[in-house]
Amino acid sequence: METKLVKIDDLKSQSKDMDMAADLIKMGEIVAFPTETVYGLGADGLNKEAVKKIFKAKGRPQDNPLILHVDSIEMLGKLVVNIPPEAYICTEKFWPGPLTILFKKSDLVPEIITAGLDAVAIRMPSHPIALELIKKAGVPIAAPSANTSGRPSPTRVSHVIEDMSGEIAMIIDGGETGVGLESTVLDLTEKEAMILRPGGITLEELMEVIPNVSIDPGILEVTKDGVIPKSPGQKYRHYAPKASMILFSGDRDKMVQKIIQMARKYEEENKKVGLLVTEENKEEYSFENVVVMGSSKDKKTIAHGLFHAIRRLDQMEVDIILCEAVKEDNIGMAIMNRLLKAAGGNRVNL
Ligand code: TXA
Ligand code: MG
Repeated sequence: METKLVKIDDLKSQSKDMDMAADLIKMGEIVAFPTETVYGLGADGLNKEAVKKIFKAKGRPQDNPLILHVDSIEMLGKLVVNIPPEAYICTEKFWPGPLTILFKKSDLVPEIITAGLDAVAIRMPSHPIALELIKKAGVPIAAPSANTSGRPSPTRVSHVIEDMSGEIAMIIDGGETGVGLESTVLDLTEKEAMILRPGGITLEELMEVIPNVSIDPGILEVTKDGVIPKSPGQKYRHYAPKASMILFSGDRDKMVQKIIQMARKYEEENKKVGLLVTEENKEEYSFENVVVMGSSKDKKTIAHGLFHAIRRLDQMEVDIILCEAVKEDNIGMAIMNRLLKAAGGNRVNL
């Protein structure tokens, strides 16, 4: 299939391009589009056959449900049977934005969206192109991140092209995405609110409106026996570079020394080593393939560029990546969740 690539700089003067994208969605085709978190792979969320194409293009396991993207509370109302008071508070405060909420689904939502679960995940994105696309299509848009299943999520159009060219009808280029990590997934279908995936809206921000919100114990550690994350997407090795990866945390000096020692050891074994480190420590490492993820004092910048950094290490064709951890507060929790997944749970705490 030939994939149309259209760059949108100005929504007003390019309304014809947006009409074409919306028409493709209505015809049951797939369109990749930017959101404020990462690029999404969009299809008409009420059209089973269209949604099937998403799973095919990504190579996504059938048991991993999709998020529906809406442009209004009115559209949300049709997809769910009940909007609990906490959900109103959250949508008021965080929508449009990087928060996905789980609701009990209405009959309108096809089984394939929820992978047979009772709950449907819904968010209202804040990116103007995403909102315009939903509005013009007039349907909720099902959209996972626009990467091949298991690879880092796309934060630039070049990433989408790399993974999806030839597989889908159209890609909308809206430049680099803002947050750089996916939305927070919040379950409000049980008695206690629970974060199933940390993301663009932080625990600290959520606690201001839902003080008793908890975190799924499965998300910040390796999936141990008996601890199964509730969100199906969290159980796969994800965001994964082609190389294997080890994450180092704990005391700063010990961490740096350990990374240097391990890097030398791998080099002696003739392995090509890549380092993913913070700005503050980069001078410590005199190795060839060092990628700086940003300053630990500015974790939003780290989040913004993290998936690109991991893709760069892939392009360097390193065999092993040694990576520094960051503090788990604020957006640091989502960063650490993604790094841990990328490392397949391989963490050395010093
Ligand atoms: O920022 C984002 O959320 C991006 C943009 C495109 O909106 N989308 C995204 O979708 O990250 P995806 O499919 O890559 O990740 C969705 C996550 C998965 O971990 C999935 O298992 C979980 O949400 N999820 C979706 N529906 C669910 C449900 N009904 N119950 C539990 N988890 C669900
Ligand atoms: Mg994804």
